Amino acid sequence: MTLRVAIVGSGPAGIYTAEALSKQSGEPVEIDVLERLPTPYGLVRYGVAPDHTSIKSVAGYLRRVLESPGTRFLGGVELGSDVSADELLACYDAVVYCTGAMVDRHLGIPGEDLPGSVAATDFVNWYCGHPDVPADAFTLDAEEVAVIGVGNVAVDVVRVLAKTADELRGTDVPEEVLDRLAASRVRRIHMIGRRGPEHAKFTLKELRELGELTNADVRTLPHEVEGADVEGLSRQIRGNVEVLRSWSARVPQGRPRALDVRFWLRPVEILGATRVEGIRLERTRLVDGRVTGTGEFETVPAGMVLRSVGYRSVPLPGVPFDTGTMTVPNVAGKVTGAERQYVAGWLKRGPTGVIGTNKSDAAETARTLLAEAVPGTAATKLDDLLSARGVTPVTYDDWLAIEAAEADLARALGRGERVKLVGRPALLAACGRAPRDTAGAPS
Ligand SMILES: Cc1cc2nc3c(=O)[nH]c(=O)nc-3n(C[C@H](O)[C@H](O)[C@H](O)COP(=O)(O)OP(=O)(O)OC[C@H]3O[C@@H](n4cnc5c(N)ncnc54)[C@H](O)[C@@H]3O)c2cc1C
Ligand SMILES: NC(=O)c1ccc[n+]([C@@H]2O[C@H](COP(=O)([O-])OP(=O)(O)OC[C@H]3O[C@@H](n4cnc5c(N)ncnc54)[C@H](OP(=O)(O)O)[C@@H]3O)[C@@H](O)[C@H]2O)c1
Repeated sequence: MTLRVAIVGSGPAGIYTAEALSKQSGEPVEIDVLERLPTPYGLVRYGVAPDHTSIKSVAGYLRRVLESPGTRFLGGVELGSDVSADELLACYDAVVYCTGAMVDRHLGIPGEDLPGSVAATDFVNWYCGHPDVPADAFTLDAEEVAVIGVGNVAVDVVRVLAKTADELRGTDVPEEVLDRLAASRVRRIHMIGRRGPEHAKFTLKELRELGELTNADVRTLPHEVEGADVEGLSRQIRGNVEVLRSWSARVPQGRPRALDVRFWLRPVEILGATRVEGIRLERTRLVDGRVTGTGEFETVPAGMVLRSVGYRSVPLPGVPFDTGTMTVPNVAGKVTGAERQYVAGWLKRGPTGVIGTNKSDAAETARTLLAEAVPGTAATKLDDLLSARGVTPVTYDDWLAIEAAEADLARALGRGERVKLVGRPALLAACGRAPRDTAGAPS
């Protein structure tokens, strides 16, 4: 009898899990990869920065997994609104949750909800053409932008803000987003870390890229980067500090934009009467390893504050969730206290790690699953259940039609290999499908 597995989420974790299950199992495995969006690959499509084309090419690897025998892609099927966890358990021998971390973490300071205070998750979704964020969601009419956080996502958003639209023309950025980037009034970007340069989370390669921007003068302040004690720290961190120190000696070249990378400043209030006008920061130091305010304050003027302080998973209906760690509790990928249910990726270990990290993570989950799963547990067919509910999944062939339409659009516009279509109606129209009015509710 063939083992039947549902994987929920088609990001790197979901697809690497599918691959690991097929490779590790001595017997054939039938795998359905369910995805709430009409398109596969999760953050590879809707997170990785558009100008990082070589990283995006990992989609070529993931594609081969979806094309392998026994594996099906079922797009436009959301766990929660289209099908419940119990229903999946009735249809499959095992279910693996790989839904990532879709929402932003909060700063918890006054003014966070003012217009102009924006979560990096939304801004990234916008420039990546995510179906949940309309192409007209942002107008870049602020001259100064403060980006809070010094991780790799902050580096991505800073780079997109600093580059010219021409530099992004060859990427897959939606055409309307490109128009808005071309009309951007941004002149100065402040990237702000609450600790020192030696504590920054960005990686050296990504940091160096900021120093090579041709459209922006990059600067650090000597007193914020000189004091770092890098003795005994990793090469990566020593490299970061060296690069940041070298920028403090740079002479501005009169480039159209300026990027100030700041440290030892924590946000205490986002200022403004009806919309963001600035951000109040408190200088910090470490006391017993903890970020502590010094009582010395500084205000940075900004018409937009981009909060890039990490992502967060959301609970899935009917699936155990630990609100302390904001992950699904598990032992080696097996969901704690839940039979035949497993988890992989950011939902399993939290929102850290690069694409490749999910491969070994998924392999662990697959090993755990294969060690205990019993084929033939499930009697119901998901296809019957969805069809009774009026849900017609987006198939892999439909996805190929979407890809073809995006390539056609790029050709018509005289831009790179692909230009993203935005919004579910456009994506579904590209594969000859009408948008669904309402999703069927799971019982
Ligand atoms: C902005 C950003 C840029 C990044 N850039 C890089 C980079 O350049 N290089 C690198 O190596 N790493 C990068 N990373 C990290 C990398 O993207 C992650 O490690 C990886 O995507 C996590 O994989 P995942 O499958 O757990 O989650 P995701 O990639 O988020 O995939 C989760 C999938 O589940 C789907 N889903 C969610 N809820 C449901 C539901 N209820 N029902 C059905 N489907 C659902 C989502 O739509 C999504 O497709 C980046 C991360 C971010 C946030
Ligand atoms: N090119 C790439 O490879 C790439 C690109 C993008 C993302 N990624 C990966 O995706 C993962 C997520 O990246 P991320 O940038 O979202 O997260 P991250 O690496 O965890 O960085 C989050 C940043 O936000 C700061 N922060 C958190 N809470 C804060 C607060 N209350 N006030 C001020 N600052 C606060 C953190 O500072 P503290 O350290 O002080 O907490 C840190 O600088 C990472 O593993 C990253 O490497 C990789």
